[in-house]
Amino acid sequence: MKIRFLLFPLILASQLSLTATGPWGSGVPGSPEMLELEAKWQPMASSPGKMRGHQSFNQQKYGMFIHWGLYSQLGGVYKGKKMEEGGTGPRVAEWVMRRKEIPRAEYAKLADSFNPTRFDAEEWVAVAKAAGMKYMVITSKHHDGFALFDSDVSDFNVVDGSPFGRDVIRELEQACEKAGIAFGVYYSHSIDWKDGGDAGIKDYGPEKPKKKLFANYFDPAPVKFDDYIANKALPQVQELVDNYKLCEIWLDTPIYIPARHSFAFYQTIYDADPEILVNQRIGNHFGDFGIPGDNVIPDHINKDAWEGIATTNNSWGYKSYDDDWKKPIEILYWLIANVSKGGNLLLNVGPDGRGVMPPEAVANLLKVGEWLKVNGPAIYGTKPWHIDHEGNSALKMGGTEHRKKAKLDFNFGSDDFWFTQKENKVYAIALARPEGRNILIKSLSNESIDKIRMLGQVIYLDWKKTDLGVEVQLPDFMADGIGFVIEVTLED
Ligand code: GLC
Repeated sequence: MKIRFLLFPLILASQLSLTATGPWGSGVPGSPEMLELEAKWQPMASSPGKMRGHQSFNQQKYGMFIHWGLYSQLGGVYKGKKMEEGGTGPRVAEWVMRRKEIPRAEYAKLADSFNPTRFDAEEWVAVAKAAGMKYMVITSKHHDGFALFDSDVSDFNVVDGSPFGRDVIRELEQACEKAGIAFGVYYSHSIDWKDGGDAGIKDYGPEKPKKKLFANYFDPAPVKFDDYIANKALPQVQELVDNYKLCEIWLDTPIYIPARHSFAFYQTIYDADPEILVNQRIGNHFGDFGIPGDNVIPDHINKDAWEGIATTNNSWGYKSYDDDWKKPIEILYWLIANVSKGGNLLLNVGPDGRGVMPPEAVANLLKVGEWLKVNGPAIYGTKPWHIDHEGNSALKMGGTEHRKKAKLDFNFGSDDFWFTQKENKVYAIALARPEGRNILIKSLSNESIDKIRMLGQVIYLDWKKTDLGVEVQLPDFMADGIGFVIEVTLED
Protein backbone atom coordinates (compact mmCIF):
# COMPACT_ATOMS: atom_id res chain seq x y z
CA MET A 1 0.00 0.00 0.00
CA LYS A 2 1.28 3.43 -0.92
CA ILE A 3 -0.94 5.14 1.62
CA ARG A 4 1.87 5.77 4.10
CA PHE A 5 3.95 7.76 1.71
CA LEU A 6 1.20 9.77 0.19
CA LEU A 7 -0.09 10.68 3.60
CA PHE A 8 3.20 12.31 4.43
CA PRO A 9 2.19 15.81 3.32
CA LEU A 10 -0.95 15.53 5.38
CA ILE A 11 0.96 14.43 8.40
CA LEU A 12 3.28 17.38 8.00
CA ALA A 13 0.36 19.73 7.60
CA SER A 14 -1.17 18.55 10.83
CA GLN A 15 2.06 18.67 12.78
CA LEU A 16 2.63 22.22 11.73
CA SER A 17 -0.79 23.31 12.81
CA LEU A 18 -1.53 24.39 16.32
CA THR A 19 -3.85 21.55 17.12
CA ALA A 20 -4.12 19.07 19.88
CA THR A 21 -2.80 16.23 17.77
CA GLY A 22 0.43 14.66 18.88
CA PRO A 23 3.26 12.80 17.28
CA TRP A 24 2.28 9.70 15.44
CA GLY A 25 3.49 6.93 17.70
CA SER A 26 6.92 5.82 18.83
CA GLY A 27 7.51 3.02 16.31
CA VAL A 28 10.81 3.53 14.49
CA PRO A 29 10.31 3.54 10.72
CA GLY A 30 12.38 0.82 9.05
CA SER A 31 13.11 -1.01 12.34
CA PRO A 32 12.76 -4.81 12.29
CA GLU A 33 9.67 -4.52 14.50
CA MET A 34 7.98 -2.02 12.18
CA LEU A 35 8.84 -4.02 9.08
CA GLU A 36 7.38 -7.14 10.59
CA LEU A 37 4.18 -5.41 11.67
CA GLU A 38 3.81 -3.64 8.35
CA ALA A 39 4.13 -6.92 6.50
CA LYS A 40 1.20 -8.23 8.55
CA TRP A 41 -0.76 -5.00 8.22
CA GLN A 42 -0.57 -4.57 4.46
CA PRO A 43 -2.69 -7.56 3.41
CA MET A 44 -5.39 -6.49 5.86
CA ALA A 45 -5.30 -2.87 4.69
CA SER A 46 -5.69 -3.90 1.05
CA SER A 47 -8.16 -6.76 1.62
CA PRO A 48 -11.49 -6.93 -0.27
CA GLY A 49 -13.33 -6.13 2.99
CA LYS A 50 -11.37 -2.92 3.45
CA MET A 51 -11.95 -2.02 -0.18
CA ARG A 52 -15.69 -2.32 0.39
CA GLY A 53 -15.28 -0.07 3.41
CA HIS A 54 -13.36 2.43 1.28
CA GLN A 55 -16.07 2.38 -1.34
CA SER A 56 -18.78 3.28 1.16
CA PHE A 57 -16.53 5.92 2.69
CA ASN A 58 -16.03 7.56 -0.70
CA GLN A 59 -19.72 7.39 -1.44
CA GLN A 60 -20.60 9.13 1.83
CA LYS A 61 -18.30 12.15 1.63
CA TYR A 62 -20.02 14.13 4.38
CA GLY A 63 -20.64 13.08 7.94
CA MET A 64 -21.50 14.40 11.39
CA PHE A 65 -18.92 14.28 14.17
CA ILE A 66 -20.36 14.52 17.68
CA HIS A 67 -18.35 15.34 20.78
CA TRP A 68 -20.46 14.61 23.79
CA GLY A 69 -19.70 13.48 27.31
CA LEU A 70 -19.49 14.53 30.94
CA TYR A 71 -17.66 17.73 29.97
CA SER A 72 -20.73 18.84 27.97
CA GLN A 73 -22.39 19.68 31.28
CA LEU A 74 -19.73 22.30 32.02
CA GLY A 75 -19.91 23.99 28.63
CA GLY A 76 -16.31 25.15 28.98
CA VAL A 77 -16.76 26.82 32.39
CA TYR A 78 -15.28 25.33 35.55
CA LYS A 79 -15.79 26.92 38.95
CA GLY A 80 -16.88 30.13 37.26
CA LYS A 81 -13.79 30.28 35.03
CA LYS A 82 -13.88 29.93 31.27
CA MET A 83 -11.42 27.72 29.43
CA GLU A 84 -9.43 30.82 28.45
CA GLU A 85 -9.23 32.02 32.03
CA GLY A 86 -6.28 30.06 33.35
CA GLY A 87 -4.83 26.65 32.70
CA THR A 88 -2.55 25.02 30.18
CA GLY A 89 -3.23 23.08 27.02
CA PRO A 90 -5.95 23.32 24.37
CA ARG A 91 -8.92 25.58 25.09
CA VAL A 92 -11.50 23.35 23.43
CA ALA A 93 -14.20 22.54 25.97
CA GLU A 94 -13.76 18.75 26.11
CA TRP A 95 -10.27 19.40 27.50
CA VAL A 96 -11.61 20.98 30.69
CA MET A 97 -10.35 18.19 32.97
CA ARG A 98 -6.82 18.48 31.68
CA ARG A 99 -6.71 22.25 31.32
CA LYS A 100 -8.14 22.99 34.74
CA GLU A 101 -6.31 20.03 36.27
CA ILE A 102 -9.43 18.59 37.85
CA PRO A 103 -8.51 15.61 40.06
CA ARG A 104 -9.95 12.31 38.91
CA ALA A 105 -12.31 11.79 41.84
CA GLU A 106 -13.70 15.27 41.49
CA TYR A 107 -14.17 15.01 37.75
CA ALA A 108 -15.89 11.66 38.20
CA LYS A 109 -18.64 13.42 40.16
CA LEU A 110 -19.84 14.80 36.84
CA ALA A 111 -21.08 11.28 36.14
CA ASP A 112 -23.46 11.53 39.11
CA SER A 113 -25.21 14.47 37.50
CA PHE A 114 -25.15 13.22 33.91
CA ASN A 115 -28.82 12.93 33.09
CA PRO A 116 -29.41 14.37 29.61
CA THR A 117 -33.12 13.79 29.50
CA ARG A 118 -33.50 15.75 26.27
CA PHE A 119 -31.27 13.33 24.38
CA ASP A 120 -33.21 11.81 21.53
CA ALA A 121 -31.14 9.67 19.19
CA GLU A 122 -33.71 9.82 16.42
CA GLU A 123 -33.78 13.58 16.56
CA TRP A 124 -29.99 13.85 16.25
CA VAL A 125 -29.97 11.43 13.37
CA ALA A 126 -32.80 13.32 11.69
CA VAL A 127 -30.70 16.50 11.85
CA ALA A 128 -27.73 14.71 10.29
CA LYS A 129 -29.95 13.33 7.58
CA ALA A 130 -31.65 16.63 6.76
CA ALA A 131 -28.19 18.22 6.72
CA GLY A 132 -27.26 15.87 3.87
CA MET A 133 -24.80 13.90 5.98
CA LYS A 134 -24.38 10.23 5.21
CA TYR A 135 -22.60 9.05 8.34
CA MET A 136 -22.16 9.89 11.98
CA VAL A 137 -19.21 9.43 14.33
CA ILE A 138 -19.63 10.06 18.06
CA THR A 139 -17.19 10.09 20.98
CA SER A 140 -17.75 6.72 22.61
CA LYS A 141 -14.99 7.64 25.07
CA HIS A 142 -13.02 10.86 25.00
CA HIS A 143 -9.77 11.66 26.83
CA ASP A 144 -11.65 11.90 30.14
CA GLY A 145 -12.18 8.14 30.11
CA PHE A 146 -15.99 8.11 30.43
CA ALA A 147 -17.71 5.71 28.04
CA LEU A 148 -21.07 6.45 26.44
CA PHE A 149 -21.72 2.73 26.00
CA ASP A 150 -22.44 -0.18 28.28
CA SER A 151 -19.08 -1.61 29.22
CA ASP A 152 -18.09 -4.62 31.33
CA VAL A 153 -14.52 -3.40 31.25
CA SER A 154 -15.05 -0.24 33.28
CA ASP A 155 -17.99 1.04 35.32
CA PHE A 156 -17.06 4.56 34.37
CA ASN A 157 -19.72 4.45 31.69
CA VAL A 158 -23.12 5.95 31.06
CA VAL A 159 -25.12 2.83 31.89
CA ASP A 160 -23.42 1.81 35.15
CA GLY A 161 -22.09 5.14 36.27
CA SER A 162 -24.73 7.78 35.63
CA PRO A 163 -28.36 8.37 36.58
CA PHE A 164 -29.17 8.46 32.88
CA GLY A 165 -28.44 4.75 32.60
CA ARG A 166 -29.09 4.50 28.86
CA ASP A 167 -26.65 3.21 26.27
CA VAL A 168 -26.18 6.25 24.07
CA ILE A 169 -24.09 4.40 21.50
CA ARG A 170 -26.73 1.69 21.12
CA GLU A 171 -29.55 4.21 20.68
CA LEU A 172 -27.63 6.14 18.05
CA GLU A 173 -26.52 2.99 16.28
CA GLN A 174 -30.14 1.91 15.98
CA ALA A 175 -31.47 5.30 14.97
CA CYS A 176 -28.79 5.54 12.28
CA GLU A 177 -29.61 2.09 10.98
CA LYS A 178 -33.28 3.01 10.74
CA ALA A 179 -32.49 6.23 8.87
CA GLY A 180 -29.96 4.68 6.49
CA ILE A 181 -27.03 6.61 7.98
CA ALA A 182 -23.73 4.80 8.54
CA PHE A 183 -22.53 4.83 12.13
CA GLY A 184 -19.06 5.03 13.63
CA VAL A 185 -17.39 5.86 16.91
CA TYR A 186 -14.50 7.95 18.15
CA TYR A 187 -12.44 6.29 20.89
CA SER A 188 -9.51 7.93 22.67
CA HIS A 189 -7.21 4.92 22.84
CA SER A 190 -3.98 6.51 23.98
CA ILE A 191 -5.02 9.33 26.28
CA ASP A 192 -7.23 8.46 29.25
CA TRP A 193 -6.94 10.99 32.05
CA LYS A 194 -8.90 8.73 34.37
CA ASP A 195 -7.30 5.33 33.87
CA GLY A 196 -4.38 5.78 31.48
CA GLY A 197 -1.62 7.12 33.71
CA ASP A 198 0.52 9.58 31.79
CA ALA A 199 -0.50 8.33 28.33
CA GLY A 200 2.77 6.45 27.98
CA ILE A 201 4.92 9.53 27.74
CA LYS A 202 7.28 8.40 30.52
CA ASP A 203 7.64 4.89 29.13
CA TYR A 204 7.76 5.65 25.43
CA GLY A 205 8.34 9.35 24.92
CA PRO A 206 11.66 11.14 24.53
CA GLU A 207 13.54 12.17 27.64
CA LYS A 208 12.24 15.70 27.44
CA PRO A 209 8.78 15.31 25.98
CA LYS A 210 7.37 18.39 24.30
CA LYS A 211 3.89 17.00 24.48
CA LYS A 212 3.52 16.88 28.24
CA LEU A 213 0.39 18.91 27.95
CA PHE A 214 -1.51 15.90 26.64
CA ALA A 215 -1.22 13.83 29.76
CA ASN A 216 -2.68 13.85 33.23
CA TYR A 217 0.34 14.88 35.31
CA PHE A 218 -1.69 16.42 38.10
CA ASP A 219 -3.36 13.23 39.34
CA PRO A 220 -2.45 10.29 37.10
CA ALA A 221 -3.83 6.81 37.66
CA PRO A 222 -1.06 4.67 39.15
CA VAL A 223 -0.83 2.33 36.19
CA LYS A 224 1.63 1.52 33.46
CA PHE A 225 0.58 2.52 29.98
CA ASP A 226 0.86 -1.09 28.78
CA ASP A 227 -1.52 -2.21 31.52
CA TYR A 228 -4.01 0.49 30.64
CA ILE A 229 -3.94 -0.65 27.00
CA ALA A 230 -4.30 -4.30 27.99
CA ASN A 231 -6.95 -3.75 30.66
CA LYS A 232 -9.07 -0.94 29.36
CA ALA A 233 -8.46 0.49 25.91
CA LEU A 234 -8.10 -2.67 23.88
CA PRO A 235 -10.90 -4.56 25.69
CA GLN A 236 -13.24 -1.59 25.25
CA VAL A 237 -12.50 -1.39 21.55
CA GLN A 238 -13.18 -5.12 21.45
CA GLU A 239 -16.55 -4.46 23.10
CA LEU A 240 -17.34 -1.77 20.57
CA VAL A 241 -16.63 -3.95 17.57
CA ASP A 242 -18.35 -6.97 19.11
CA ASN A 243 -21.49 -5.20 20.23
CA TYR A 244 -22.17 -2.50 17.63
CA LYS A 245 -22.34 -2.32 13.85
CA LEU A 246 -19.76 0.28 12.89
CA CYS A 247 -18.51 1.84 9.67
CA GLU A 248 -15.47 3.54 11.13
CA ILE A 249 -13.47 3.82 14.33
CA TRP A 250 -11.83 7.13 14.98
CA LEU A 251 -8.95 6.58 17.36
CA ASP A 252 -7.30 9.72 18.62
CA THR A 253 -4.04 11.33 19.56
CA PRO A 254 -1.56 8.44 19.57
CA ILE A 255 1.32 10.49 21.00
CA TYR A 256 4.09 7.95 21.73
CA ILE A 257 2.05 4.77 21.51
CA PRO A 258 4.31 1.86 20.57
CA ALA A 259 3.79 0.27 17.16
CA ARG A 260 2.71 -3.05 18.63
CA HIS A 261 -0.22 -1.40 20.37
CA SER A 262 -1.37 0.48 17.27
CA PHE A 263 -1.13 -2.75 15.37
CA ALA A 264 -3.12 -4.64 18.03
CA PHE A 265 -5.98 -2.13 17.68
CA TYR A 266 -5.93 -2.52 13.92
CA GLN A 267 -5.95 -6.30 14.13
CA THR A 268 -8.75 -6.36 16.71
CA ILE A 269 -10.95 -4.16 14.57
CA TYR A 270 -10.08 -6.01 11.37
CA ASP A 271 -10.81 -9.43 12.85
CA ALA A 272 -14.26 -8.29 13.95
CA ASP A 273 -15.17 -6.65 10.66
CA PRO A 274 -12.70 -5.87 7.87
CA GLU A 275 -15.02 -3.21 6.46
CA ILE A 276 -14.58 -0.91 9.44
CA LEU A 277 -12.13 1.82 8.48
CA VAL A 278 -9.69 3.18 11.05
CA ASN A 279 -8.21 6.66 10.93
CA GLN A 280 -4.56 7.59 10.85
CA ARG A 281 -4.53 8.59 14.52
CA ILE A 282 -4.35 4.92 15.44
CA GLY A 283 -0.64 5.79 15.34
CA ASN A 284 2.45 4.42 13.61
CA HIS A 285 0.80 4.83 10.20
CA PHE A 286 -1.50 1.85 10.58
CA GLY A 287 -4.61 3.77 9.61
CA ASP A 288 -6.88 3.24 6.60
CA PHE A 289 -7.42 6.92 6.00
CA GLY A 290 -5.59 10.15 6.72
CA ILE A 291 -6.56 13.17 8.82
CA PRO A 292 -5.12 16.51 7.73
CA GLY A 293 -5.35 17.94 11.27
CA ASP A 294 -8.03 19.59 13.38
CA ASN A 295 -9.65 22.29 11.26
CA VAL A 296 -7.05 22.06 8.54
CA ILE A 297 -7.67 21.88 4.81
CA PRO A 298 -4.70 20.46 2.91
CA ASP A 299 -3.17 22.50 0.11
CA HIS A 300 -3.26 19.87 -2.60
CA ILE A 301 -5.32 17.05 -4.07
CA ASN A 302 -4.61 13.72 -2.39
CA LYS A 303 -6.19 10.65 -3.96
CA ASP A 304 -5.71 8.40 -0.96
CA ALA A 305 -8.59 8.12 1.46
CA TRP A 306 -8.71 10.99 3.95
CA GLU A 307 -11.19 12.86 6.06
CA GLY A 308 -11.09 16.54 6.94
CA ILE A 309 -12.50 17.35 10.36
CA ALA A 310 -13.95 20.65 11.40
CA THR A 311 -15.85 22.31 14.21
CA THR A 312 -19.03 24.35 13.73
CA ASN A 313 -17.76 27.01 16.17
CA ASN A 314 -14.26 26.89 17.77
CA SER A 315 -14.68 23.90 20.05
CA TRP A 316 -15.51 20.21 19.67
CA GLY A 317 -17.27 19.79 22.97
CA TYR A 318 -20.12 22.15 23.91
CA LYS A 319 -18.81 25.60 24.85
CA SER A 320 -21.68 27.64 26.23
CA TYR A 321 -20.17 31.04 25.41
CA ASP A 322 -18.76 30.34 21.95
CA ASP A 323 -21.27 31.59 19.42
CA ASP A 324 -18.80 32.15 16.60
CA TRP A 325 -20.67 29.76 14.29
CA LYS A 326 -19.54 28.80 10.83
CA LYS A 327 -22.18 30.23 8.52
CA PRO A 328 -23.70 28.06 5.80
CA ILE A 329 -21.33 29.46 3.19
CA GLU A 330 -18.30 28.67 5.34
CA ILE A 331 -19.55 25.14 5.93
CA LEU A 332 -20.14 24.74 2.22
CA TYR A 333 -16.66 26.02 1.51
CA TRP A 334 -15.26 23.43 3.91
CA LEU A 335 -17.20 20.65 2.28
CA ILE A 336 -16.32 21.64 -1.26
CA ALA A 337 -12.68 22.46 -0.56
CA ASN A 338 -12.23 19.02 1.04
CA VAL A 339 -14.18 17.02 -1.49
CA SER A 340 -12.51 18.70 -4.49
CA LYS A 341 -9.15 17.66 -3.02
CA GLY A 342 -10.31 14.08 -2.60
CA GLY A 343 -11.38 14.04 1.04
CA ASN A 344 -14.50 13.53 3.11
CA LEU A 345 -15.68 16.10 5.62
CA LEU A 346 -16.65 15.12 9.14
CA LEU A 347 -18.24 18.19 10.66
CA ASN A 348 -18.65 18.42 14.40
CA VAL A 349 -21.56 19.36 16.61
CA GLY A 350 -21.23 19.57 20.40
CA PRO A 351 -24.59 19.02 22.12
CA ASP A 352 -25.00 20.41 25.64
CA GLY A 353 -25.34 18.50 28.89
CA ARG A 354 -29.08 18.12 28.42
CA GLY A 355 -28.61 16.47 25.04
CA VAL A 356 -29.57 19.49 22.97
CA MET A 357 -27.61 20.39 19.86
CA PRO A 358 -26.86 24.13 19.64
CA PRO A 359 -29.76 25.53 17.58
CA GLU A 360 -27.47 27.90 15.61
CA ALA A 361 -25.32 25.01 14.47
CA VAL A 362 -28.39 23.00 13.52
CA ALA A 363 -29.92 25.89 11.54
CA ASN A 364 -26.68 26.37 9.59
CA LEU A 365 -26.34 22.68 8.89
CA LEU A 366 -29.89 22.46 7.61
CA LYS A 367 -29.26 25.28 5.13
CA VAL A 368 -26.34 23.32 3.75
CA GLY A 369 -28.66 20.33 3.61
CA GLU A 370 -31.01 22.32 1.38
CA TRP A 371 -28.12 23.10 -0.93
CA LEU A 372 -27.15 19.44 -1.03
CA LYS A 373 -30.65 18.34 -1.98
CA VAL A 374 -30.07 20.05 -5.30
CA ASN A 375 -26.32 19.85 -5.62
CA GLY A 376 -25.55 16.53 -3.92
CA PRO A 377 -24.53 14.82 -7.18
CA ALA A 378 -21.44 17.07 -7.25
CA ILE A 379 -20.41 15.77 -3.82
CA TYR A 380 -21.44 12.19 -3.00
CA GLY A 381 -19.36 9.46 -4.58
CA THR A 382 -17.17 11.93 -6.45
CA LYS A 383 -13.45 11.92 -6.99
CA PRO A 384 -11.08 14.83 -7.46
CA TRP A 385 -10.61 16.14 -11.00
CA HIS A 386 -7.32 17.36 -12.57
CA ILE A 387 -7.37 20.46 -10.44
CA ASP A 388 -9.37 21.24 -7.35
CA HIS A 389 -9.99 24.94 -7.86
CA GLU A 390 -9.61 27.88 -10.21
CA GLY A 391 -10.13 31.51 -9.30
CA ASN A 392 -8.80 34.18 -7.03
CA SER A 393 -9.80 33.15 -3.56
CA ALA A 394 -6.97 31.58 -1.60
CA LEU A 395 -8.20 30.77 1.87
CA LYS A 396 -6.04 28.80 4.26
CA MET A 397 -7.53 26.86 7.10
CA GLY A 398 -4.86 26.35 9.68
CA GLY A 399 -6.31 25.03 12.92
CA THR A 400 -9.22 25.27 15.29
CA GLU A 401 -9.02 28.90 16.37
CA HIS A 402 -7.38 30.11 13.19
CA ARG A 403 -10.60 31.36 11.62
CA LYS A 404 -11.49 33.42 14.64
CA LYS A 405 -8.08 35.05 14.79
CA ALA A 406 -7.66 35.49 11.05
CA LYS A 407 -11.12 37.06 10.63
CA LEU A 408 -11.59 35.20 7.38
CA ASP A 409 -13.94 36.49 4.78
CA PHE A 410 -16.09 34.05 2.86
CA ASN A 411 -17.08 36.31 0.00
CA PHE A 412 -16.08 34.37 -3.04
CA GLY A 413 -15.72 35.67 -6.58
CA SER A 414 -17.77 34.56 -9.57
CA ASP A 415 -14.47 33.35 -11.08
CA ASP A 416 -14.03 30.82 -8.26
CA PHE A 417 -14.87 27.24 -9.22
CA TRP A 418 -14.16 24.03 -7.40
CA PHE A 419 -14.19 20.77 -9.35
CA THR A 420 -15.18 17.18 -8.75
CA GLN A 421 -15.89 14.34 -11.12
CA LYS A 422 -17.98 11.20 -11.33
CA GLU A 423 -18.18 8.83 -14.30
CA ASN A 424 -18.40 10.97 -17.47
CA LYS A 425 -19.29 14.14 -15.61
CA VAL A 426 -17.26 17.03 -14.30
CA TYR A 427 -18.85 19.35 -11.76
CA ALA A 428 -17.86 22.99 -11.48
CA ILE A 429 -19.07 24.34 -8.17
CA ALA A 430 -19.52 28.06 -7.60
CA LEU A 431 -20.17 29.78 -4.28
CA ALA A 432 -21.04 33.15 -5.80
CA ARG A 433 -23.24 34.34 -8.62
CA PRO A 434 -22.05 36.64 -11.40
CA GLU A 435 -23.53 40.04 -12.12
CA GLY A 436 -24.61 39.10 -15.63
CA ARG A 437 -25.55 35.71 -17.06
CA ASN A 438 -22.19 34.61 -18.43
CA ILE A 439 -19.51 32.68 -16.63
CA LEU A 440 -16.09 31.60 -17.83
CA ILE A 441 -14.60 28.31 -16.70
CA LYS A 442 -10.99 28.27 -17.80
CA SER A 443 -9.97 24.77 -16.84
CA LEU A 444 -12.50 23.14 -19.16
CA SER A 445 -10.61 24.36 -22.27
CA ASN A 446 -9.21 21.00 -23.23
CA GLU A 447 -12.26 18.86 -22.55
CA SER A 448 -14.51 17.36 -25.21
CA ILE A 449 -17.84 18.53 -23.94
CA ASP A 450 -21.13 16.94 -24.88
CA LYS A 451 -23.55 19.11 -22.91
CA ILE A 452 -23.82 21.38 -19.90
CA ARG A 453 -26.60 22.05 -17.45
CA MET A 454 -27.07 23.48 -14.01
CA LEU A 455 -27.90 21.00 -11.24
CA GLY A 456 -31.52 21.34 -10.27
CA GLN A 457 -32.57 22.33 -13.77
CA VAL A 458 -33.41 20.12 -16.73
CA ILE A 459 -32.65 22.49 -19.58
CA TYR A 460 -29.25 22.26 -21.18
CA LEU A 461 -27.37 25.53 -21.41
CA ASP A 462 -25.71 27.41 -24.26
CA TRP A 463 -21.96 27.31 -24.09
CA LYS A 464 -18.99 28.00 -26.32
CA LYS A 465 -15.26 27.62 -26.24
CA THR A 466 -13.25 30.81 -26.40
CA ASP A 467 -9.51 31.47 -26.20
CA LEU A 468 -9.88 31.80 -22.49
CA GLY A 469 -11.95 28.75 -21.63
CA VAL A 470 -15.56 27.69 -21.78
CA GLU A 471 -18.18 30.36 -21.58
CA VAL A 472 -21.53 29.24 -20.24
CA GLN A 473 -24.73 31.20 -20.29
CA LEU A 474 -26.58 30.66 -17.04
CA PRO A 475 -30.34 30.11 -17.08
CA ASP A 476 -32.51 33.20 -16.79
CA PHE A 477 -34.12 31.88 -13.67
CA MET A 478 -32.22 30.63 -10.64
CA ALA A 479 -33.85 29.82 -7.32
CA ASP A 480 -32.48 31.71 -4.31
CA GLY A 481 -29.49 30.15 -2.66
CA ILE A 482 -25.74 30.05 -2.47
CA GLY A 483 -23.84 29.71 -5.76
CA PHE A 484 -24.71 26.90 -8.16
CA VAL A 485 -23.25 23.81 -9.76
CA ILE A 486 -22.53 23.37 -13.44
CA GLU A 487 -22.66 19.76 -14.58
CA VAL A 488 -20.51 19.11 -17.63
CA THR A 489 -21.16 15.86 -19.46
CA LEU A 490 -18.10 14.81 -21.44
CA GLU A 491 -18.25 13.05 -24.78
CA ASP A 492 -17.63 9.30 -24.61
C1 GLC B 1 -7.90 16.42 19.18
C2 GLC B 1 -8.37 16.72 20.56
C3 GLC B 1 -9.74 16.40 20.77
C4 GLC B 1 -10.68 16.30 19.64
C5 GLC B 1 -10.04 15.86 18.38
C6 GLC B 1 -10.90 16.02 17.19
O1 GLC B 1 -7.04 15.43 19.08
O2 GLC B 1 -7.55 16.19 21.53
O3 GLC B 1 -10.28 16.97 21.87
O4 GLC B 1 -11.47 15.25 19.96
O5 GLC B 1 -8.83 16.38 18.18
O6 GLC B 1 -10.16 15.94 16.05
